[in-house]
Amino acid sequence: MNCDATRSQNKRLRFSAVFGIVHTFFSRPLAQSVEHMTFNHGVSGSSPERPTILIRDVMQKKITMVQETATIVNQLEMTGGYMRLTLQAPGVAGLARPGQFVHARVPGLEESVLRRPFSICDAGDGTLSILYKRVGVGTAQMATLPNGAEVDLIGPLGNGFPMPREGAQPVLVAGGYGVAPLYFLARKLSTTGHLFAGGKTSADILCAGEFERLGWTVHAATEDGSLGTRGYVTEALLPWLAGQPAAEVFACGPDGLLRALSQNVSQPLWVSLDKHMVCGVGACLACVQKIIQPDGSVAQMRVCHDGPVFAGRSVVWN
Ligand code: FES
Repeated sequence: MNCDATRSQNKRLRFSAVFGIVHTFFSRPLAQSVEHMTFNHGVSGSSPERPTILIRDVMQKKITMVQETATIVNQLEMTGGYMRLTLQAPGVAGLARPGQFVHARVPGLEESVLRRPFSICDAGDGTLSILYKRVGVGTAQMATLPNGAEVDLIGPLGNGFPMPREGAQPVLVAGGYGVAPLYFLARKLSTTGHLFAGGKTSADILCAGEFERLGWTVHAATEDGSLGTRGYVTEALLPWLAGQPAAEVFACGPDGLLRALSQNVSQPLWVSLDKHMVCGVGACLACVQKIIQPDGSVAQMRVCHDGPVFAGRSVVWN
């Protein structure tokens, strides 16, 4: 996109970008959605059926997300029905930061389902990977896709994790495949730290070997005692954390875990929320969450657009 384009060109391109996104999610354009979107201009791509849309933040003069047709490079079956999917997606991968997610349309189900959000587990060299579990029709269909199949992606979306403050000791806390964005964070940090990973059984403890190869110390906790501490991950974490005043905690997992952390962790805490999403770009309000603002008031914020990462003690748990 040439930033010197004329005003009329910008207007046309802005319409193209917004219409493309809204049309992608819904069968008809929604005027209300357009009003909620903050994107200022963009370009439409080569194919009229599957346009590539580049959204630029005019104030920062940079691309913030793309829509692109990604190609499956590899599907790896992990333990417990979990899958790791690697996609050739140079546009999204080149922009991705830890804690952000992609919104994917599963081929073969375009007519019956909307896009699905997946945390980015890793990105680099033109590829990105996600973790998912076969739990329904969409993810079961996804698990059957062969190498070379195409997946329509929008991303990277969301705010991502902040970097740890100067001198802080990073502590990552994962429930099940909540480990995905934390692995990306660990890969990007220049320091190592501790990962606390919890699940029902040892099959829910994912990527432990990858963390150890990065030099991280892994503490596992399983409810059945098949790996690590028997019980919830908080039972392993909280006594240990009491002696770590320099810790800064980054967490992703089920609400019960994140709520327990926000009520019991005194150190700085960041939580990545998992909410039902429809549009993924802040237009439909399907993912709102009450968040305490700096002035003490409470506001409904969009997890997809304002999050998914929030300060742990700012979340109002229902
Ligand atoms: Fe539509 Fe968040 S999913 S606003």
